[in-house]
Amino acid sequence: MRFLLTGGAGYIGTQILVELLQAGHDVAVIDNLSSGHLEALQRAQALAGRTFSFFRGDIADRELVSRALCGVDVVFHLAAYKLSGESMLRPERYFQNNVGGMCALLSAMEAAGVRRIVYSSSAAVYGAQREMPVHEDAPLRPESPYGASKAQGEQMLEWMVRCHQWSAVSLRYFNPVGAHASGHIGEPLESAASLVPRALYALTREDSRLTIMGTDYPTPDGTCLRDYVHVKDLARAHLLALGALEEPRHAIFNVGTGRPYSVREVLSACARVTGREVRFSEGARRPGDVPCAAANPGRFQRKVGFEAQLGLDEMVASAWNWCQLNPFGYQEAPGNVDGLALSGILPAEAQRAGAPPGPV
Ligand SMILES: NC(=O)c1ccc[n+]([C@@H]2O[C@H](COP(=O)([O-])OP(=O)(O)OC[C@H]3O[C@@H](n4cnc5c(N)ncnc54)[C@H](O)[C@@H]3O)[C@@H](O)[C@H]2O)c1
Repeated sequence: MRFLLTGGAGYIGTQILVELLQAGHDVAVIDNLSSGHLEALQRAQALAGRTFSFFRGDIADRELVSRALCGVDVVFHLAAYKLSGESMLRPERYFQNNVGGMCALLSAMEAAGVRRIVYSSSAAVYGAQREMPVHEDAPLRPESPYGASKAQGEQMLEWMVRCHQWSAVSLRYFNPVGAHASGHIGEPLESAASLVPRALYALTREDSRLTIMGTDYPTPDGTCLRDYVHVKDLARAHLLALGALEEPRHAIFNVGTGRPYSVREVLSACARVTGREVRFSEGARRPGDVPCAAANPGRFQRKVGFEAQLGLDEMVASAWNWCQLNPFGYQEAPGNVDGLALSGILPAEAQRAGAPPGPV
C-alpha cells in the first residue's frame, strides 16, 4: 500500500514512518518542518533501510498536496500544532493550522479520490470528565483552543464520511512518551512540553529544575494523573487502525493503557531508570489542567486487538537512552547514524519545477 504521512518529520510521525517502511509499504511524507526535523527523516530512512518520498511544504498548499497524493491509498494525518498552553495565547494560529490546514487537506483528498484517513486526535478533546477512565462516547469538553481544534477535525471527518462515504479513524492519543529503541529518533528535550522529557531535561542540566504544577489535586498524592503510552506502541496502533477503516464509517478510538500515573510516580520512575533524582519544586496549578486523564482502551482492543506492550519504566528508559545519545536533540548532528545522505530529499520548489518526488 502507499501512504501519505502528514507531519512525518515530527516526533510521532518519524516513528510511524519507520514502522510503515519496515512493514514494506510505500510512503510519501509532507511536512513544512515548522517543528519537525530533516535529520529525523534521514535517520528514519537509515533505520528502516528503505527510501520514501519527501514533499517539503504545507498541507494548505493544494498543488503540493495533490502531487503528494498521487497513488496514495490512505492518509495518516498528523501535521498540526500541539501545545495546549500556547494555543491559549494564540488560538487563531491553532485554528488556522489545525482546522484550516486540515480542511485544505481534506478538500485535496476528495478531489484526488483518496477517501481513507487515519487522524491524530487527542485526549485534549475530553477536558474534565466525571467518569475516568474515559470512554469514547463521553461528551467532549475541550479546555483549550488546541483541544477544540482537534475536536473540530473529528467533526470534519464525520461529515466527509456522511456526505462522501469516506472511511475515517480518529485516534485519541493520551500521553505519548519514549523514543525509538535505537535511540536515534525521539523527542528533542529542549522543545518538549510534556512531563518525562522535561524531567529528563532537569536531570541533564545543572541549572535546571522541574516545577510540579499543582500538588493539591484530589488524587492520592495530590499531583495530576495521566495515562502514558509508549510511542512505539502508538506507532504500532496506526498500522492496526487500518483494520478499522470501513466504508462509510468514522470510528473513534482512545489510544492509552488505562493505567494512569501521577507526576510523583513518573519522577520515581525517572529515578529508578536513571539512578538520579530529578530536582523539582512545587508550584501552583496550571490553568486548564484536569486532575486525571485516563483512557478506557477497551474499544480499540476489541476492534483491532491493540494492547500497549510497554510500561512506564520502558518509556522512560527509551527516552533516557535517546537523550543521552542526543543531548542536543537533532540540532547538533552527533554522527551516531552511519551512512546517511541528503541526496533525494528535494525541496518543494524543485518538486514544483517538475522534478520527480524523492525517494529520500
Ligand atoms: N505529542 C503529543 O503529546 C500528542 C498528544 C495527542 C495528540 N497529538 C497529535 O499528534 C500529532 C503529531 O504530534 P507530534 O508530537 O509528533 O508533534 P510534532 O510537532 O513533533 O510534529 C508535527 C509535525 O507536523 C509538521 N507540521 C505542522 N503543521 C504543518 C503544516 N501546516 N503543514 C505541514 N507540516 C506541518 C511539523 O513540522 C512537525 O513535523 C499532532 O496532530 C498532535 O496534535 C500529539
